[in-house]
Formats: sequence, C-alpha cells, structure tokens
Amino acid sequence: MIGEFITRRLSIAPMMECTDPHERYFLRLCSRHALLYTEMIPTQAVWHGRGERLLAYNTEEHPVAVQFGGSDPRQLAYCARMAEGYGYDEVNLNVGCPSARVQAGRFGACLMAEPSLVAELVACMREATRLPVTVKTRIGIDQQHGYDALASFVECVAGAGCRTFIVHARKAWLQGLSPKENRARPPLRHDRVHRLKRDFPQLEIVINGGIRTLEQVEEQLSWVDGVMLGREAYRNPYLLANADARLFGDTRPVRTRHELVRAYLPYVERQLAGGARVSCMTRHILGLYQGMPGARAWRSHLSEWGSRRGAGTEVILQALSLLPGEIEIGHAIA
Ligand SMILES: Cc1cc2nc3c(=O)[nH]c(=O)nc-3n(C[C@H](O)[C@H](O)[C@H](O)COP(=O)(O)O)c2cc1C
Repeated sequence: MIGEFITRRLSIAPMMECTDPHERYFLRLCSRHALLYTEMIPTQAVWHGRGERLLAYNTEEHPVAVQFGGSDPRQLAYCARMAEGYGYDEVNLNVGCPSARVQAGRFGACLMAEPSLVAELVACMREATRLPVTVKTRIGIDQQHGYDALASFVECVAGAGCRTFIVHARKAWLQGLSPKENRARPPLRHDRVHRLKRDFPQLEIVINGGIRTLEQVEEQLSWVDGVMLGREAYRNPYLLANADARLFGDTRPVRTRHELVRAYLPYVERQLAGGARVSCMTRHILGLYQGMPGARAWRSHLSEWGSRRGAGTEVILQALSLLPGEIEIGHAIA
C-alpha cells in the first residue's frame, strides 16, 4: 500500500496558521525523517473548488500527511482521492478541534460523540484512496470523564479499518473554553493513551500533548508507537535537528542553525520571485536561536524589517550578522 512504510515515531502536529508549506519546508531542513502534517483543511473548501490552492505543497516536504476537517462522507472521500492524486503520504481526519466554527460544521472534536459516524467516514475515505487513513482525536469531550468512552470510540473506528490513532492526551470542553484554553486547561492524561496502547496492541498509537524535549519523546516511545510534537516544535524548531540522530539512527552531520538558515535562503528567494512576502517565511524561523546569544536581536530584526514593503532576503542576512558568528559546530552522532 502507498505510504505503508512511513514512520510515525516522530511527527509534527497540524497547526492552523503555523504548519503551512513554508514552515514545513523549513522543518524538513531540520529533520529528514519527522512526519509533517498540514494545517487542517476544511473539506467544504476543497469540495467548492479551492483544492488546488489548499493542497499545494513542496515535493521536498515528504513524508507529509494532509489533515481534513469535515463530516460529510462524500466530501471526505473526494478529498482523500484528491490527496492521493497530489501525492500526499497519509490522510488524517480531525476529531480533536473544539472551535465553535468547527462545531457548527459538525466536525472536529464533537465527532467523538458519534463513533459510528466517524467509522463511516473512515470507511468512505479508505474506499476512495490507497493511502493510510488515520484519525487524530482527544481522550474525550465534555462529560466523557473516564477511559471507557475513548476505548469504545477507538474500537468502533478501528473496526472500519483505521490502524493509526493520534491522541491528544487531554479532554476538550466544547462549551465555555476557547480552542487555546482547550490546549492548556483540562489536565494532560498521558496514562490514558498508554493504556490505549496496552489494550489495543495491534493498533499504532501516537501520543500528543505537552511533550517538549527529545528525552520526553524517548520516554514516551517506551509506551507508545509514536510522538507528535506541536507548539514546542514551532517555538523551538532546532529541537528537530538532533531528532534524526537520536530517534532514527541517522548518522549524517547535524546542521548548525546558521547552516539551516543558509539552506532556507534559496527557497525564500524562489517564493519571493513568485510574489510571496518575506515575512510569510521569516515568521517561522523567529524561534530558531531560542536560548542562544543574540536570539532577541535575531527575532526583533526579522519581525521589524521583514514586515516592511519590498523586504527581501537581505533582512535574513542582516539578522544573521547580528548573531555571534558560527556559534555551533555541526557534528556527526554515531
Ligand atoms: C496554533 C495552533 C493551531 C492548531 N491547529 C490544529 C489543527 O489544524 N488540527 C489539529 O488537529 N490540531 C490543531 N492544533 C492542536 C495541535 O495539533 C496539538 O494537538 C496541540 O497543540 C497539543 O500538542 P502540543 O502540546 O505538543 O502543542 C493546533 C494547535 C495550535 C497551538
């Protein structure tokens, strides 16, 4: 099956307004192996003809998974077919977003209350594509306090052929909390996701939520099959640079931060030539020097000068010149 051999040991979460193609291109420079997810793409938009713009990506991004938000079986099947045509490696269904807009469309986290509908959606998508169809979900919603509702949900959806579940280890409250609050407030319950793996050893279970270091990733891998990083990978992308060696046994030299910036520049040039604004690319590298000398100067130069009309790659080169030279040495990790 297409996409059968992608590894989900480490993946980068779908994040609206963050994991766009520019960000994914840059993250791919940081790690050759982490699986990257698109932002959630509403099936409605693709159905109504905006697929060409929304599904476009750079071939360098592979392995890359596309996430859809929707609950109409025909639309999801159509999107899954298109995703295969575009060459994505996986199709993922969003069953975790609690926003009011998404609930109004009857998709996202509220689908946890309708396991048989999700099973039907998965079945339709699987019929439409040879790509792996995966589900990203929460550990529960609203009054689903215990573990049982999660286990029944997974059992029902797995019955439709979903082999991989990515579980954000925190409940979502559909009323009264904003999406942002829903990523911080209900406490994380990693133990629930570990139990899921114990109870469904034949399924691939990927844990997500609050994981911030490679040590934590390694620890989680003793419980589950994979780890998905969200905010930390966005805030501190250099975290990924060491992941290839530590998690995938890749012995090629680890690129320095400066080397990553230089490798990003030709891409930025190409995008500028195509009419993009430099700030669309620089906003994704603001956190690259986090914790290093000169990090603040780097960030403020990019933010201030990158947003000016007509700004180009010189802004990045100037920001680099504010940093204290080649502050790290790339090294091979055996
Ligand atoms: C800005 C932002 C946008 C997000 N957009 C999506 C999305 O489009 N689809 C989705 O399934 N989850 C989305 N999420 C949730 C993340 O995928 C992830 O589940 C969550 O941030 C918890 O992981 P973390 O603690 O590692 O950040 C978003 C999170 C953030 C911070």
